Amino acid sequence: KKVVLAYSGGLDTSAIVPWLKENYECEVVCFVGDIGQSLDDLKGVEKKAIASGASGCHVVNLQEVFAREAIYPLMKAGCLYEGRYLLGTSMARPILARAQVEVARAVGADALSHGCTGKGNDQVRFETVFAGLAPDLPVIAPWRIWSMRSREELLAYLAERDIPCSASATKIYSRDENAFHLSTEGGELESPWNAPTHNVWEWTKNIEETPNTPTNVTLDIEQGEVRAVNGETMTPMQVVKTLNELGVQHGVGRIDIIENRLVGMKSRGCYETPGGTILFNAIRGLEELVFDRDSFKLRQQLALDLAEKVYDGKWFVPATRAILAAVDSLAQTLNGKVVVQLFKGQATVIQRQSINSLYSESFATFGKDEVYQQAHAEGFIRLYSLPSRIRALKATGQA
Ligand code: ARG
Ligand code: SIN
Repeated sequence: KKVVLAYSGGLDTSAIVPWLKENYECEVVCFVGDIGQSLDDLKGVEKKAIASGASGCHVVNLQEVFAREAIYPLMKAGCLYEGRYLLGTSMARPILARAQVEVARAVGADALSHGCTGKGNDQVRFETVFAGLAPDLPVIAPWRIWSMRSREELLAYLAERDIPCSASATKIYSRDENAFHLSTEGGELESPWNAPTHNVWEWTKNIEETPNTPTNVTLDIEQGEVRAVNGETMTPMQVVKTLNELGVQHGVGRIDIIENRLVGMKSRGCYETPGGTILFNAIRGLEELVFDRDSFKLRQQLALDLAEKVYDGKWFVPATRAILAAVDSLAQTLNGKVVVQLFKGQATVIQRQSINSLYSESFATFGKDEVYQQAHAEGFIRLYSLPSRIRALKATGQA
C-alpha cells in the first residue's frame, strides 16, 4: 500500500508521515509543490521527508504553471473574495492538488493525504480536486481522525519515534506562503479587537519605513496579461516576483480581513499580496479606459462568481471553465500601457493608454466641442424618464 502526502516539512506533516505508516501499514511518498514559497521551506525538504520515514519525496516545480493557470486568469478577471481578498491561498490549492494526483498516478498510489485541519477551507479545496481527478483514490485527513490537538503533542509523538524536527512548541501563527501571497492567521489575530502587531507582517515594510519618494512602474498589457515591466519582457512568474520586490518596499498589498469560510465560521487573517495588488490595480485601470458599460458590468459579475468558485475549491468544474472562457473573451481588448505609482502602501494608476481605448477627449471635454450636440440630450431624457412622468400623471389623475 502506498499513500502520497502533500508535505511541507513543517511539524504537522512531519508527524503525519509516521502516523500514516503506523495506522495504515503503508509506504508514504511525499509530494512538495514549489509555487514560490520561501526557500527556507524548500531547502532540505527531501532529507526531512526521508528522516520522517517517507520512502520518497517528489518536489515538483509548479511556479510558471501557477502563475499562468491561476494568478494570471484571476487577475484578468479582477477576482476578489468578499470585496478584498485576492485569493492567494485558494487559487494555489487546485494547482497543488492536481500535481499531487499526477505524482500519485506515477508511483501507483492507493490513497492521498494532506495536513489541513478539519475546520478550514483548504481541506475542501484539496479534496474537491481529488474527487474530480482521482475519484478512485481514498483521502486520509489525519487532523480529522487522530486525537492529537496541540503542537506539544505532535512534538512528543515525533520525539518518541526519534524523528528529528526543528519546529518549536510555540509557533504563533498559521501561515501559508506562495509567490503571490503570504497569509497569517491565528495568534493574537484570533481576537478582532487585537490590532495586528508588527510580527504579523513578514513581506511588506511598515509605512513608517517606506521611502518618502514614490516609485513609478510601467506595465505593458496584452489581452489582460502583463507582458513587460518597465519595458522588459518577462514570464508571468517573473512579473509577479518583480512586482513583489517593488511593492514590498512601499508597503503595498496588506489587508486585514474577517472573512466567511465555506465551512461556516468567520476567520480573521492578515494577507500580503504586493505584486498582486499592483497587477490588479493596473488591469482595472486599463479596463476603465477600454470597457464599455455593459462589458464592465459583465466583468464584475464574472469576477464575483469566479471568486466564489475559487474560494470554494471548484476549479476544475465546467462552470468555472466557462467563466474563464468568458473572461478571456472580454479581455481581448485589454491591450495597452499603464503606469502605477507606488507610495505609502498605495498602488495608484496615474497614466494609461490603449489602442482599444474608448475614451474620447473630444467627446468628454468640458471645453468647447465639435462632436456632441447638447440639444440631443433633451429627447433622450424625455423618453428615458417617460415611465416616471406617466406614473406621476396617473397618480394625480392627469393621465
Ligand atoms: N483564509 C484564507 C483562505 O481560506 C487563507 C487560508 C490559509 N491557509 C492555511 N493553511 N494557513 O483562502
Ligand atoms: C486549515 O484549517 O487547514 C487552514 C485554514 C483554512 O483552510 O481555511
